[in-house]
Amino acid sequence: MAAKEFYAHPRQISDVTECEFYHTMDLPGIGTVNGSWDLRGRIHDYIGGIPVRGRRILDLGAANGFCSFDVEKLGAQVVSFDAESATLFENLPIPGALFTDDYQSWLCSAERRLDRLKNGYWLAHRLQHSSARAYYGDIYHVPDALGTFDIVLVGQVLVHLRDPIAALQQAAARSSDTLVITEAVADADQPVMRLCGTVANGVSYAWFHLSRAFYREMLLMFGFELVQITQAEYICSHSGYPEAMPLTTLVARRRSSAP
Ligand SMILES: C[S@@+](CC[C@H](N)C(=O)[O-])C[C@H]1O[C@@H](n2cnc3c(N)ncnc32)[C@H](O)[C@@H]1O
Repeated sequence: MAAKEFYAHPRQISDVTECEFYHTMDLPGIGTVNGSWDLRGRIHDYIGGIPVRGRRILDLGAANGFCSFDVEKLGAQVVSFDAESATLFENLPIPGALFTDDYQSWLCSAERRLDRLKNGYWLAHRLQHSSARAYYGDIYHVPDALGTFDIVLVGQVLVHLRDPIAALQQAAARSSDTLVITEAVADADQPVMRLCGTVANGVSYAWFHLSRAFYREMLLMFGFELVQITQAEYICSHSGYPEAMPLTTLVARRRSSAP
């Protein structure tokens, strides 16, 4: 039996109908494919304006890889990381949600969507002549064997996790220099995390928004200092029509010695 490859084997996808898109992207030879987030022309804001040329970047929770491909176009060497399986996805246990009431049906459609998301990544990868490598695993167990990266990107993935602190710790462990976190944040001065999904709002896919002070403290514990916070609005069509959604980008640098 052949040994499992460490990095994901590139998929030869040519049919766009086999794909699902989280990111809106302009694909050579195909045109615009529509996803719920349109970050086109916005990578500079999304990653806090940090220079990426010649840097090794790990893009955690890459989805269709829009950020991976855009930083690669700016001269970075990229590893895109995403979920091995939909069994890793953590939804809130909200009564009435398919995840809670009929887990097997939910899992079946979630696996299909994840597979189609990966197809979208590989279609975009091929059409844009990307050299990025992809690794499929679990953000709670990012393997040491991936090595360390100058920059680790954590874009809108913590909100989907039951334990964002553990994931942030994994991200920090893989970064030799810079962490970039782009998420919606809780508007509070204290170091708090605010629950997003409730029984009343029925939002089962969003766990927490952390406050800036919370990030600052956790990052210090992981050996990083929060050096920059910026905010920008991005077009999101999650609800079926385009809306401007504010996101915060936090840039943290590894401290040379313990505080
Ligand atoms: C909302 S998308 C973020 C896309 C991209 N980072 C961005 O900022 O536009 C979240 C991604 O995290 C991935 N993800 C969720 N749970 C994961 C886990 N436990 N391990 C690895 N990836 C996970 C999902 O598959 C999805 O592609």
